[in-house]
Amino acid sequence: MADTSSRAGGVYFSPEILQWTAATHAAHDPALAAAFDAPDKAGMPRIQVGPSEGKLLHLLLRLCGAKKVVEVGTLAGYSAVHLARALPDDGRLWTVEADARHAEVARQVLRDAGLASKVEVLVGRGAEVLPTLERHGPFCAVFIDADKESYDVYGRWAARHTRPGGLLLGDNAFLFGELLGATPRAEVMRRFHQEARAAYDTVCIPTPDGLLVGVKR
Ligand code: SAH
Ligand code: DHB
Ligand code: MG
Repeated sequence: MADTSSRAGGVYFSPEILQWTAATHAAHDPALAAAFDAPDKAGMPRIQVGPSEGKLLHLLLRLCGAKKVVEVGTLAGYSAVHLARALPDDGRLWTVEADARHAEVARQVLRDAGLASKVEVLVGRGAEVLPTLERHGPFCAVFIDADKESYDVYGRWAARHTRPGGLLLGDNAFLFGELLGATPRAEVMRRFHQEARAAYDTVCIPTPDGLLVGVKR
């Protein structure tokens, strides 16, 4: 964001530039490639984070020395591989997935990546499962990437159970371009941004989908 055009919302990336920079900085090893391909192979939606966003999540966890992390919305475990690989040997990732079939695919992906001992895949809706994790808190980071209708609930839970200096990470913070709309879920997403701002030092990184990043005060 550095000149009149980009300040006004123009972007300088093209599909080719995104592909080249991802290949340069966020190339897949075999386990990441398998995790990335798993949704398509299993007939699941291809809605995992992009390689550059996944790498960013990984680096952010390393920067804050994260040991205990919660993810809401596992899909096939691609983001979970990035998150879990940032953890020390005694670190742990709890990842929550409403769809039992998605969770089963993710467990296999995480086993194949050699991460099964660090990651617990929990089946259930975020709003019901998160309270069962509270005894493990406070957490170092919470990554929110599940149903967009519940981001406010997840964000509030995260603020209550994240240590000072810990991270809030929220994918799809632009809500597919609907963030400023009049729909109920747009109101939910705006509330998520505003409540995050109240409990964390925040920024919304203009990744293609918008990534909200907060550091807990
Ligand atoms: N974080 C994943 C992508 C998640 S896609 C990655 O980047 O690899 C969103 C996932 O959230 C889907 O698998 C969907 O089944 C799940 N989901 C939807 N509603 C949910 C809910 N209420 N609680 C938990 N998971 C939910
Ligand atoms: C959808 C969900 C996501 O988390 C995402 O990054 C893209 C799409 C979806 O539900 O369609
Ligand atoms: Mg997402």
